[in-house]
Amino acid sequence: MVDGDVTDPTRPDTGIPPLRIGDLTVPLPIVCAPMAGGPTTPALVAEVGAAGGLGMLAAGYLGASAVAGLLDDVEGRTHRPYGVNLFLSGPDPLADDPTGLRARALADYRSELAADARHGAVPGEPRWSDEEVADKIAVLAAHRPALVSVTFGDPGGALVARIHGDVGVPVAVTVTSLVEAGAAIGSGADALIVQGIEAGGHRGLWTDDPAQVAGGPRVPTADLVRIIGAAVDVPVIAAGGVTDGAAIRSMMSLGAAAAQLGTAFLCCDEAGTSAPHRHALLDRTFSDTVITRAFSGRSARSLRNDFATRHTAAPALYPHVHHLTKPLRAAATAADDPDGINLWAGTGWRAVTEGPAADLMARLTAELIDGP
Ligand SMILES: Cc1cc2nc3c(=O)[nH]c(=O)nc-3n(C[C@H](O)[C@H](O)[C@H](O)COP(=O)(O)O)c2cc1C
Repeated sequence: MVDGDVTDPTRPDTGIPPLRIGDLTVPLPIVCAPMAGGPTTPALVAEVGAAGGLGMLAAGYLGASAVAGLLDDVEGRTHRPYGVNLFLSGPDPLADDPTGLRARALADYRSELAADARHGAVPGEPRWSDEEVADKIAVLAAHRPALVSVTFGDPGGALVARIHGDVGVPVAVTVTSLVEAGAAIGSGADALIVQGIEAGGHRGLWTDDPAQVAGGPRVPTADLVRIIGAAVDVPVIAAGGVTDGAAIRSMMSLGAAAAQLGTAFLCCDEAGTSAPHRHALLDRTFSDTVITRAFSGRSARSLRNDFATRHTAAPALYPHVHHLTKPLRAAATAADDPDGINLWAGTGWRAVTEGPAADLMARLTAELIDGP
C-alpha cells in the first residue's frame, strides 16, 4: 500500500478522536510500538502510517548512522507522520561498583551462560553504551520525524529542550508509575506513554530494582492510565496488553488519548520478527509469559522458554547482560531454536495474527468504530 491508495480513515461519522500531541495530529488513536532488535522495519512504520495510525521507528541498540538509513528508508516510503524512539541508557552500573560485587555477579552469570551454551556459541563481551543519543538527535534534526519518544529514564529538561529546539517535534516519555509521570512532566514531556505490567518486551522502568523480580510495581495498564490520566494535562498513550479495538476503546474511556500496541504487530508480514519468534507466538509453542532479566539484565516480558526458566538469577546489569547473551541468541535464532531466544511478548500474545499490517489496522479500526 502507498499513501495515495487510502482514503483518510478519519471519517467524520466514525466518532473516533484523532491523537493530538502539540502540532501533531494522527488520524487514528493507534500507535505501533517501536520494537528494537528487528521487529520494527521501515515498511511496517510506513504501512501503519498509511492506514492512519502512527508508526514508530526503533532507534535502540543501533548506531546513529544506521538510524539515518532507516529514516531515509521510511521517508522514501511515506509522507505520513512517523515517530522515532530513543533508549536512554542511564549510567553504567559497573562504573559505580566499589565492592566489585556487580563485576563478580556478571562474571558468575557469564560462567553460567557459558556452561549452558548451545549451538557452539560463546557469550559475548559485556559493555555499556551511551546509545549515541546526541548523534541520533542530529540525525533526527536532518529528517522529518513528527514525534520522538524516549524509554528507560527521565530525559531531563535539557534533553527535551534540545529535541524541541533541534528537531522541532513533541517528546513522549515512557513511564510506569505516577512518580515517573510527575517527573516526566517536570522535564517537559508533551505526552506520556503509560506502560503497564502486561506489556511485552522491556519494562520502561526508570530504575530496575534488583530486589524485585519485575523490577518495580506490577501495575496493570488500565489502572495506570486511570491514575496518571487524572493527574496530568498531557495526552496519555496506553501501552501493555492491548490487542484489539475494544481494548483501545476501553483505554480511551479511562482517559487515554491512544494506545500503543507492540505484540499485536509482531507477526505482520512487514515486521522483521524472526521466524522462530513468529512460530512460537502463532503455534503456541509456550504456554505463558514471564518477566525475566535472563536475556538483557533488564526486566522484560518474554514467552516462558527454556532460557528464561533456567536463568532466573540473572543480575540487573543492563546492557552488559544484553551483550553477553547476544551471540547465544543469534545462534539460537540461526538454528531455529525458540528455547534460546528472547521471545518478547505481552500478556495478550494469544491474539496475535499474521498478515499485512494494513489488514490489522483495518480490523482495529473497524473494531474501534463498531465494536468487535
Ligand atoms: C518485541 C518488542 C520490542 C520492543 N522494543 C521496544 C523499544 O525498542 N522501545 C520501546 O519504547 N518499547 C519497546 N517495546 C515495548 C512497547 O513499546 C510497548 O510498551 C509494548 O509492546 C506494549 O505491550 P504489548 O506488547 O502488550 O502491546 C517492545 C515490545 C516488544 C513486544
